Amino acid sequence: MAADEPLVLGIETSCDETGVGIVRGTTLLADAVASSVDTHARFGGVVPEIASRAHLEAMVPTIERALKEAGVSARDLDGIAVTSGPGLAGALLVGVSAAKAYAYALGKPLYGVNHLASHICVDQLEHGPLPEPTMALLVSGGHSSLLLAPDITSDVRPLGATIDDAAGEAFDKIARVLNLGFPGGPVIDRLAKEGDPTSIAFPRGLTGPRDAPYDFSFSGLKTSVARWIEARRAAGEEVPVRDVAASFQEAVVDVLTRKAVRACKDEGVDHLMIGGGVAANSRLRALAEERCERAGVRLRVPRPGLCTDNGAMVAALGAEMVARNRRPSDLELSADSSLPVTEPHVPGAHQQHTHDHVHEISKDNLYS
Ligand code: KG4
Ligand code: ZN
Repeated sequence: MAADEPLVLGIETSCDETGVGIVRGTTLLADAVASSVDTHARFGGVVPEIASRAHLEAMVPTIERALKEAGVSARDLDGIAVTSGPGLAGALLVGVSAAKAYAYALGKPLYGVNHLASHICVDQLEHGPLPEPTMALLVSGGHSSLLLAPDITSDVRPLGATIDDAAGEAFDKIARVLNLGFPGGPVIDRLAKEGDPTSIAFPRGLTGPRDAPYDFSFSGLKTSVARWIEARRAAGEEVPVRDVAASFQEAVVDVLTRKAVRACKDEGVDHLMIGGGVAANSRLRALAEERCERAGVRLRVPRPGLCTDNGAMVAALGAEMVARNRRPSDLELSADSSLPVTEPHVPGAHQQHTHDHVHEISKDNLYS
């Protein structure tokens, strides 16, 4: 770890995790996460108002915990990065407001960054600099996309995405039908290990010859699984939960890995990065490994703790922004719940965000 590499603090509040990470270049120094997931569990999904309030309460203690864990002072930071979108508007706003306040008070440059690009960039903390271009399969509760990233700080191109449910959403919905609680991914992953993935032939969405090669669809699969379960229940038969979990999971990861490897081949990219909460899935990791090896593609998947939402991923992308001299954001930065994936960060209108410049900005901008 070189002392001249940028020291950046990253804040993530796009959903239900208040994440604060600190990195120096591509080295992870701290990864503090406070999750409100348990508070949402009884509602069967994330309740935006509850998430926002939880972020507000956790923000300052989580920042302090991260600074302590990293053993650095806020004064030494070279920048503050924050997820400005996409995500839940009210939740994002808490992180963006906090980042602006710290940037203003400390006189540090501010970088509003894209949540999806951060999910890709986090792998640098585990496997070193990302090859360029990188092919990325991003699968989470809110997104399922195939992205080609020639430069993670400035050029991210969407090749395909889900046309209905995200992969994680499908896991969460099927878990609800099976009364397994929320979030559904981890418990389905666990039960599937004891089930037979070939026992029920569930449909593979959008895999016909005339279908878009890189788009995904999981709503037909979800309906098919729900109907299968209902038919068993209506007939008074027991539902083989482990077999259903394994067969459903196999249908999802089969399509994800097949399309991702095909994209690598079509685009001539010899490695694949998988990120987002669903990348924690053990069967997805195993099947991707198997298919990549067969296709001569190198696979990079961060450890599960870095796949789910966290602040380290935001800090990782922020550090890359500093290292590549990308223009910081203004203090006018706002949360953008639908920030396009093609915008890895939100550069300000001003040329350089120096200490003097920060003090010229009226305090009102902090609340815009
Ligand atoms: O990236 P993430 O933490 O938050 C979003 O940005 O959405 O992803 C959360 C999603 C949830 O839908 C959860 O069920 C899923 O990731 N997930 C999993 C696993 N762990 C988390 N899905 C499948 N298998 C897992 N082991
Ligand atoms: Zn995410």
